[in-house]
Order: sequence, then C-alpha cells, then structure tokens
Amino acid sequence: MQGSVVIDLKNAIRTIPDYPKPGVQFRDITTLLGDARTFRRAVDELVQPWAGLKIDKIAGIEARGFIIGGAVAHQLSTGFIPIRKKGKLPHQTVRVTYSLEYGLDEMEMHSDAVLAGERVILVDDLIATGGTATAAVKLLRSIGAEVLAACFIVDLPALGGVQRLRDMGVPVRTLVGFE
Ligand code: PRP
Ligand code: ADE
Repeated sequence: MQGSVVIDLKNAIRTIPDYPKPGVQFRDITTLLGDARTFRRAVDELVQPWAGLKIDKIAGIEARGFIIGGAVAHQLSTGFIPIRKKGKLPHQTVRVTYSLEYGLDEMEMHSDAVLAGERVILVDDLIATGGTATAAVKLLRSIGAEVLAACFIVDLPALGGVQRLRDMGVPVRTLVGFE
C-alpha cells in the first residue's frame, strides 16, 4: 500500500483522549466512514488481496466490524456472518468470553453460520489486544470454518493483537497503525 494512502486514511481517523476511560486514546473511525472517499478507499484496500479468489463468507464483529465487513462482503460478493455481543442472536449459538483493552465481554455466532470447510475472512475496524479477534477465530474454527485471514483498518501495535492472531496461524492485514 502506498505511503500517501496510509497517511490519507490515518488523517481521516479522529483521536479522542480518555474515552471510554482515562488513559485510553480512542481511535474514532466515524470520521473516516463519514467521508465517501476515505470509506471507499479503506474498503478497496481491505478487499484488494482477495479479488478473484474463492472466499465463501466474511465474518464481521459487532458493532463497527458490521459496517466494514458488510461493505467488504458486498465488494467480494460473499455471504456475511455477524459475530455479536451475547444475547442478540435468535437461533442456536456458540459463545466465548474474551477480554478487551477496557473490560470483559462475551460474543456469539449462530452455530450453523458456516458449513465445515468454508473459507472465511474475519473483518473488524480495529485490533488492539486481539482479545476480540482471537475469540472470533476460536468461534469460527469451533464450527469448522477455515479462517483464511483477518483484516482491520487500524492496528494498535503496542497492544500486541496482530502477533496473537499470527501465533494462532491467521494471516493478518492492517491498513494503518497508531503507536
Ligand atoms: C472495539 C473494536 C474491536 C475491539 C478491539 O470494539 O471495534 O472489535 O474493540 O479490541 P481488542 O483487540 O483489544 O479486543 P468494542 O468492543 O469497543 O465494541 P463496538 O464495536 O461495539 O464499539
Ligand atoms: N477498541 C479497543 N481499543 C480501542 C481504541 N483505543 N480505540 C478504538 N477502539 C478500540
């Protein structure tokens, strides 16, 4: 990816200090999403390595991963799997507890959301500690998905999430990093 594109995307993301709690620098992608040009550019960059390959489904993580993942699925003409916070999905689910940069939570997906062996790419807006994404990979694998890769607009490399995913054998693509 060209350095000028990275700078363009990075400049489109707003930082809110001390949100949602003191000490967290919140990387707010709503400003990137609100600009037609940067939204399209970010989605195009996430999609680019996969164009023309056989992908069955995109899995997106609630809530911001739904926005990005839905756009990526549309672009790649794949199905979409919502991975949701607990209690939101109506049918039988698989569930996992995970830790966040600022707390603990549980997520679920429908147990019939993928067929065994289906090729899935995980999408979210941001990876920090990797707690959310590694839990999502566990859910997907638990029902037989082949997780080809995970893609994020933002990486917070100091928190080590990308390495945690790679340690699980998942290739990772991120577009911009904030130290
Ligand atoms: C954010 C972000 C990722 C996750 C990354 O979601 O969208 O899903 O945190 O953090 P981690 O790598 O440390 O797990 P959040 O849980 O704030 O939920 P939201 O998208 O509903 O705001
Ligand atoms: N999710 C976890 N950490 C975050 C951060 N610093 N900014 C935005 N979303 C996040």
